[in-house]
Amino acid sequence: MNILVTGGAGYIGSHTCVVLLEAGHEVIVADNLCNSKAETIDKVEQITNKKMVFYPIDVTDEEAVERIFADHKIDGVIHFAGLKAVAESVEKPLEYYYNNTVSTMVLAKACQRHGVEKFIFSSSATVYGENEVPFVETMDLLPAANPYGETKAISERILMDTAKANSKFSVSLLRYFNPVGAHESGFIGEEPTGIPNNLMPYVTQVAKGKLEKLQVFGNDYPTPDGTGVRDYIHVMDLAEGHVASLDRLTPGVHIYNLGTGQGISVLQLVKAFEEVNGVRVPYEIMGRRPGDIAESYADVSKAEKELNWKAKRGIKEMVRDAWRFESQLPAAQK
Ligand code: NAD
Ligand code: WQD
Repeated sequence: MNILVTGGAGYIGSHTCVVLLEAGHEVIVADNLCNSKAETIDKVEQITNKKMVFYPIDVTDEEAVERIFADHKIDGVIHFAGLKAVAESVEKPLEYYYNNTVSTMVLAKACQRHGVEKFIFSSSATVYGENEVPFVETMDLLPAANPYGETKAISERILMDTAKANSKFSVSLLRYFNPVGAHESGFIGEEPTGIPNNLMPYVTQVAKGKLEKLQVFGNDYPTPDGTGVRDYIHVMDLAEGHVASLDRLTPGVHIYNLGTGQGISVLQLVKAFEEVNGVRVPYEIMGRRPGDIAESYADVSKAEKELNWKAKRGIKEMVRDAWRFESQLPAAQK
């Protein structure tokens, strides 16, 4: 199939391009590079020894998106493009609402004009809010603690209503838990700009000596060791989940949690990182980070049953591959 991947130069998008190309699909990437580099496109091509078509465009630009659909017979869209920094979304709500919801509408409209029926959307576990764990797809969503989370809930609703009005539209809403790690080659991975907000990239930078020590946000949560519990998923498992979902997409809206189903605490992750990689990660315990919840992990039975997909890689592979990627980056970078 010809798959349009928006945000394909980004972290999850680039890994998914690898899996799509290896499965024999043609890939067209649209990315404005606001949080990524064009060289990632070349790296994906080198890993797979296959070519992609790259459009350096903003997917909120209706005319630019129209040109892609006019140039190619698109069979499906995987929409990764979006802004994702939670704290920044609180400071710049309009930028987040505009970018993340208008892009979804522009792409869905282009699909309608061109009879493209398959649409896969990058949603997030954040839409569950502070529900009871494990999070199940049938749960009522709770308001997100920040504008970023709301953009995901709104985009989900836009796509649900679009599918209601068009019986052939086939939508998959993939709710990712906490993607970490990198391609096994160490060639592509997560490269946040500035000081990382997320745990794993922070840990890799402390291990590398770029940052002095990890700040553990709270050790008084009602969890086994008091630190926050999350469902970390290897980015290659996540990428494979997209292709599984694309293969089985049928008309209507299908919601899937993509996680491992296993909760890991901050201190468990740090310990695994130190043991597997033989490096030290100094840390200090701080107060809780505003907006954080104690626990987040998925009920993954629906994806297992309907997509015949299951995360294969565990915490050891996650910390090993995250460190392999960080280790080969120049020390001065970032
Ligand atoms: P990322 O920032 O690495 O990738 C997003 C890509 O989209 C970047 O390459 C960026 O340049 C591009 N982009 C952003 N706005 C654009 C626009 N208007 N037009 C064209 N390109 C644009 O982020 P990621 O971690 O790969 O996340 C991919 C998607 O998955 C995002 O929608 C994100 O919200 C969602 N998600 C991520 C996580 C996570 O923890 N990484 C968790 C849940 C959901
Ligand atoms: C994980 C755990 C922190 C950093 C965020 C978004 C979510 C999704 C994934 C996009 C928590 C603790 C973290 C640090 C720490 N993104 N922590 N020290 O908050 O689960 O989810 O990323 O959709 O929407 O909210 O991920 O990696 O920031 O935190 O102790 O320096 O690590 O408190 O318990 P989170 P995270």
